[in-house]
Amino acid sequence: MTPSSYEPTPEFARRLDEADPLREFRDQFALPRGGRSEPLVYLCGHSLGLMPLAARQRVTEELDDWARLAVQGHEQARRPWIPYHENLRDGLAALTGARAGEVVAMSSLTVNLHLMLAAFYRPTGDRRRIVIEAGAFSSDRHAVASQITWRGLDPRETLIELSPPAGMETIPPESIESYLEEHGAQAALVLWPGVQYRTGQAFDLGRIASAAHRAGAVAGFDLAHSIGNMPHALHDIGADFAVWCSYKYLNGGPGAIGGCFVHERHDPPHLAGWWGHEPGTRFRMGPEFHAAPGAAGWQISNPPILSAAPLIASLALFGQAGLDNLRRKSVALTGYLEYLLDRLHPGVQLITPRAADSRGCQLSVRIKGPHGRGRRVFEALTAHGVIGDWREPDTIRLAPVPLYNSFMDVFRGADALAQILRLEP
Ligand SMILES: Cc1ncc(COP(=O)(O)O)c(C=O)c1O
Repeated sequence: MTPSSYEPTPEFARRLDEADPLREFRDQFALPRGGRSEPLVYLCGHSLGLMPLAARQRVTEELDDWARLAVQGHEQARRPWIPYHENLRDGLAALTGARAGEVVAMSSLTVNLHLMLAAFYRPTGDRRRIVIEAGAFSSDRHAVASQITWRGLDPRETLIELSPPAGMETIPPESIESYLEEHGAQAALVLWPGVQYRTGQAFDLGRIASAAHRAGAVAGFDLAHSIGNMPHALHDIGADFAVWCSYKYLNGGPGAIGGCFVHERHDPPHLAGWWGHEPGTRFRMGPEFHAAPGAAGWQISNPPILSAAPLIASLALFGQAGLDNLRRKSVALTGYLEYLLDRLHPGVQLITPRAADSRGCQLSVRIKGPHGRGRRVFEALTAHGVIGDWREPDTIRLAPVPLYNSFMDVFRGADALAQILRLEP
């Protein structure tokens, strides 16, 4: 299917849905209605993924085991709580292209980023800089800047934020490579997103890892907007570490347990807590810390079972659907959305790159016109039952998610936007 064969009609969208081999996965999710009789057109999985229906059962099972067994649930629950992270390991490894021992579900995204930076950011001599993208997600920037300050350094000199070249919205990979070729001797660590949250640009993480390593720097990645959205190959590209959250494309639920990847070649000194202790001797409660092998050794606390249980349900769906199949559908869904949005030109402008391999499912749409118009258009869209989100000053983010969105959702979302733009002066 190519854009030249697309048609801007509901009949065409329906035909695409009928031909979609993954269409039945939609029935595995709770589709929010917001008080309406019809489900909302939910294009906001980049912010909070929908609830897999099986999540309720997974959580109920844990509540039942708590009620039935109390403390004995640690060992006797149907999924014993002590090794609970193991329930998530293979699914996360498949989504990140990692070996099973390289990933662990734990804590939350920004906390995990701090834990990784504590271990991997080792400023020495002139090699002190951390390189990130300009306009990084606020929490990532706060984490990086505070880690720099924590070490007695000055973020104004040590935090390098790479901007798109003049006149461009997104950062070509060559810009990162040429910065590192020129200034790499001063770079201690590169922290880069898999997909940039505002623009929706996806990056070739292998290319960035190679450029960082050629410069002698550590390559760490924030996969918040790319895990479950794009395939990854963290092990093979030699990424040093990665962190993510599970409430977006992983559908783990609000505040769900986060995760991290540490390449198996690494065993740096890191901050420790009892849950990272080698499990066979953890409960001897000795004063010495002996880390469990691999990423599991980076755990600090015992895991939040109720915020991990829904993720088991969601990862099972990813396993059944297959990430390659999901990606194929995702490219078609987002391509169809792009085609429909292009018909709204010049009222809207796409910020997200056009090439399928430079984006995931999200498209970021700038609403043109006088100040305040974009926000009004966004609010009218929400009132029409189309759920995306708003980023100041002028951008609506829309993400058709292949596990649960349909081509008809895409048609309805774009059609509502077209009607609103016609009415909104
Ligand atoms: C790129 C990115 N970094 C950091 C965060 C903050 O995540 P948390 O509140 O789980 O630490 C988010 C949340 O959406 C994010 O998208």
